Amino acid sequence: MSNNLKWGILGPGKIARKFAEELQVVENAEIYAVASRDMDRAKQFGSDFNPSKVYGSYLELAQDDEVDVVYVATPHAFHFEYTMLCLKHGKHVLVEKPMGMNEAEVETMMNEARSRGLFLMEGLWTRFVPATGKLLELINNKVIGDIVAIRADFGFKSKMDMQGRLFEKKLGGGSLLDIGIYPVYLSLLILGIPVDIMATARMTKTGVDSYCSMMFSYDNHSKASLESTLEAHTPIEAYIYGTHGKIKVATRFHHSERIELYEEEDIIEHYDLKYSGNGYVHEIEEVQNCIKEGKTESPRLPLKTSLQLTRILDKVRAEIGLQYE
Ligand SMILES: NC(=O)c1ccc[n+]([C@@H]2O[C@H](COP(=O)([O-])OP(=O)(O)OC[C@H]3O[C@@H](n4cnc5c(N)ncnc54)[C@H](OP(=O)(O)O)[C@@H]3O)[C@@H](O)[C@H]2O)c1
Repeated sequence: MSNNLKWGILGPGKIARKFAEELQVVENAEIYAVASRDMDRAKQFGSDFNPSKVYGSYLELAQDDEVDVVYVATPHAFHFEYTMLCLKHGKHVLVEKPMGMNEAEVETMMNEARSRGLFLMEGLWTRFVPATGKLLELINNKVIGDIVAIRADFGFKSKMDMQGRLFEKKLGGGSLLDIGIYPVYLSLLILGIPVDIMATARMTKTGVDSYCSMMFSYDNHSKASLESTLEAHTPIEAYIYGTHGKIKVATRFHHSERIELYEEEDIIEHYDLKYSGNGYVHEIEEVQNCIKEGKTESPRLPLKTSLQLTRILDKVRAEIGLQYE
């Protein structure tokens, strides 16, 4: 009998292709099925990745008893609907980031998965690359003392396609939910939940943020200064400042392969931390291992963290006046 975990890919767009490439190299992972809203698109994906089943609707994928776990890779605004569809049909789910559009969606998905004893995780792959493990080790060992502040950015100059996923409000557009989520997640991982959130944004004519600048404060008086933008290439670096030094997480910080340790202005140590493939392999392995061990959540990225992250994003959105339907 095959030991493989059978994956279904729901929404075969840009990221689903990269993800499927990585699935091919993970041991005991099988691209078993793909589902698109359009049979031709499903077949196209099928001809590239050769799954056993090709479906022209998401419902058929959810109804396939052979599928163990579904990767939900639609635009953000539909993560909730299709994750719920899969959970209700007894499937484990890895859903792309952001898990949902708001706290209520994330809480409902969590409760659904828990009540059914199913695995559910947000696709924050950054948590599983080796650099993140090293960063947390250095911080927990107080190598730079107590954390004073974090600075992190994520910006790229996007094609200004106002109907595309990045700018269309109905699809969940805007820089914050698409890429701002990475610096926000880093701050949550290192400093926890902020007690105060300030944010300001530049909005597009479609009513989403093309630039978002955030300042978080914590009850130990540390600060996080974070930004995201779809209008300009920014360094995509993270700095963690401590009482005894600083850590630089080299670009692109959310899947970095280099961490530098500084004392004052001088580098005193650096770590080269290669990841496998494009970096998604580690996240896939986490899902595979958790499911095989009968876990319904990842200990490294539990649902509680996704809920906390969503609550922070909700607060930032309230500050910048960004509401989705
Ligand atoms: N982890 C990462 O590094 C990473 C990187 C990029 C994106 N993402 C996340 O992945 C998700 C998808 O991003 P993407 O860039 O792959 O998106 P995309 O290519 O624009 O869309 C993905 C697919 O979603 C399906 N879809 C379902 N309902 C749709 C609708 N109403 N409008 C448009 N498409 C719809 C489409 O497939 P069919 O119509 O064929 O079913 C489409 O091909 C986002 O939530 C994003 O945050 C993650």
